Amino acid sequence: MTAKNVSVRLLLVLLFFVSPAAPLLNGGGVARAASREPVRAAHGMVASTSRLASQVGVDVLKRGGNAVDAAIAVAFALAVTYPAAGNLGGGGFMMIRLRDGRTTAIDYREMAPAAANHDVYLDATGQPKKGEGGSLVGYRASGVPGTVAGMELALKKYGSGRLTWAQLVEPARRLAAEGFALPYGLARSLKGNAKELGAYPESQKVYLKGGQFFGEGEVWRQPELAATFARLQRSGPREFYEGRTAQLIAEDMRAHDGLITLEDMKNYVAKERVPLHTTYRGYEVISMPPPSSGGAVLIEMLNILEGFDLRHMGANSSERYHVETEAMRRAFADRAEYMGDADFVSVPVAGLIDKSYAESLRKGIKMERASTSAEVKAGRPAGAESEDTTHFTVVDAEGNCVSNTYTLNDSFGSKVVMKGTGILMNDEMDDFAAKPGTPNAYGLIQGERNSVAPRKRPLSAMTPTFVLRPDGSLWFAVGSPGGPTIINTVLQVITNVIDFDMNIQQAIDAPRIHHQWLPDEIAYEPFGMSADTFRALEARGHRLVAKPRYMGDAQGIMIEEKTGVRLGASDPRNYGEPVGY
Ligand code: DON
Repeated sequence: MTAKNVSVRLLLVLLFFVSPAAPLLNGGGVARAASREPVRAAHGMVASTSRLASQVGVDVLKRGGNAVDAAIAVAFALAVTYPAAGNLGGGGFMMIRLRDGRTTAIDYREMAPAAANHDVYLDATGQPKKGEGGSLVGYRASGVPGTVAGMELALKKYGSGRLTWAQLVEPARRLAAEGFALPYGLARSLKGNAKELGAYPESQKVYLKGGQFFGEGEVWRQPELAATFARLQRSGPREFYEGRTAQLIAEDMRAHDGLITLEDMKNYVAKERVPLHTTYRGYEVISMPPPSSGGAVLIEMLNILEGFDLRHMGANSSERYHVETEAMRRAFADRAEYMGDADFVSVPVAGLIDKSYAESLRKGIKMERASTSAEVKAGRPAGAESEDTTHFTVVDAEGNCVSNTYTLNDSFGSKVVMKGTGILMNDEMDDFAAKPGTPNAYGLIQGERNSVAPRKRPLSAMTPTFVLRPDGSLWFAVGSPGGPTIINTVLQVITNVIDFDMNIQQAIDAPRIHHQWLPDEIAYEPFGMSADTFRALEARGHRLVAKPRYMGDAQGIMIEEKTGVRLGASDPRNYGEPVGY
């Protein structure tokens, strides 16, 4: 250590203890002191919520696969090792940034079956149906799954060409066939969801040992899922949509009054979309366009916050939470009014992410007092949603990067396994507004633009994101589950890094808050807010609610500027682990 370094450190330590300006220097950083170092690797890194799946990805990288190849293998592996959210029966978004700077977004969100219409989830009295028949559980809750088509598209266009489809499916098939020792987190989650899963014999067979519990450390096999993977290997991805797997899904749906038909399976299409961009304090932020609301809402909030000196306020200060809340309130009000599948309805994205629009919204924010959501309606932009989802991030040796969030919506989706396939289906139809203006499972109010229609994609909050350095090189990539809290988790990770100089692990560890316009309340995590901060926010007129659960499960990778070392960080809120080489 140089003499200069020593004296700078000494000064910082002294200032920390004696200066009222300490928050300026340490960002108020309890979280910083409590964070472990990110996992370091020279070549490639996979950060996911399952160590087994991260390892699958790294093995692909070591065999010469690129980040996209690895991401595909990770996505399939998570369908086996993290069944609450990893899937074949769901959908999601894959953001890709190639080493040459090109970015793209693969949209493999579920599509509504042809039989789904505006009022499909309303009962005779016009109220959203609960239980079987509704949009949350059972055979009618699923959209047509997009994961297989999304992986097919990603491989065709952006795979390295060095590994085949069948090779990338193989680790998942093997994990399903040979089984693996149940990690504690998964054993606990199977037990925690036993009641719902137990209601469906096929699900009970797969996840509950036919009525008993699989215990921690027990080897857990999924033979029918393994056979499904084997069919996908033999016949290719279209098998899922046109072959035996599609037939099995359609037959089981028909037998149980489900909505999805063989025709719906055949008609599923994954799409490539153009990512949304903005800059935040000089750093480029690239995120997911519709049918996710994630990118647009994230950018609207960053644009609003750019006008405040967050660094000066301090990381855990009531001032920071106040202005973030006000930004969240406004952007989520716009989400409710303006957002839906842009293939079906007009979404004023350009207006929503416009910096001058953010400036006009910023003017309505008072430092001394909370707004109320009753007074904050959607603005006038020009032209006009734990463990229930999962995110993973991959960086390869060449510098290609994938930021992928995919889901079954709720934990274990619709809870229904399709007979003979081992495939658990999503309940993504609940991301539509079953009855516009009435809250969904996440309490989100959504508008007519997000009503149900055949072949439409439900609006998502998933926010796979990249942040670049001013020279255009990749700085970090991140994303998270958490329903609507996803967008705010990504927002807070980004501001933690940019405004408070946290490394990727610190930025992910730090406590989070959430506000989504309605209900008009700030949600905070267990032990996530000091009593003083709580009172200071209350004094401004905010209502605060303690959440019993932590928010999100972020998975990020940062590139160390001087060395190019990949820094992997998994959220301490769940059991994930980055693996690098
Ligand atoms: O697409 C969405 O926004 C939701 N289906 C995500 C659900 C989710 O993150 C649940 N996780 N806690």
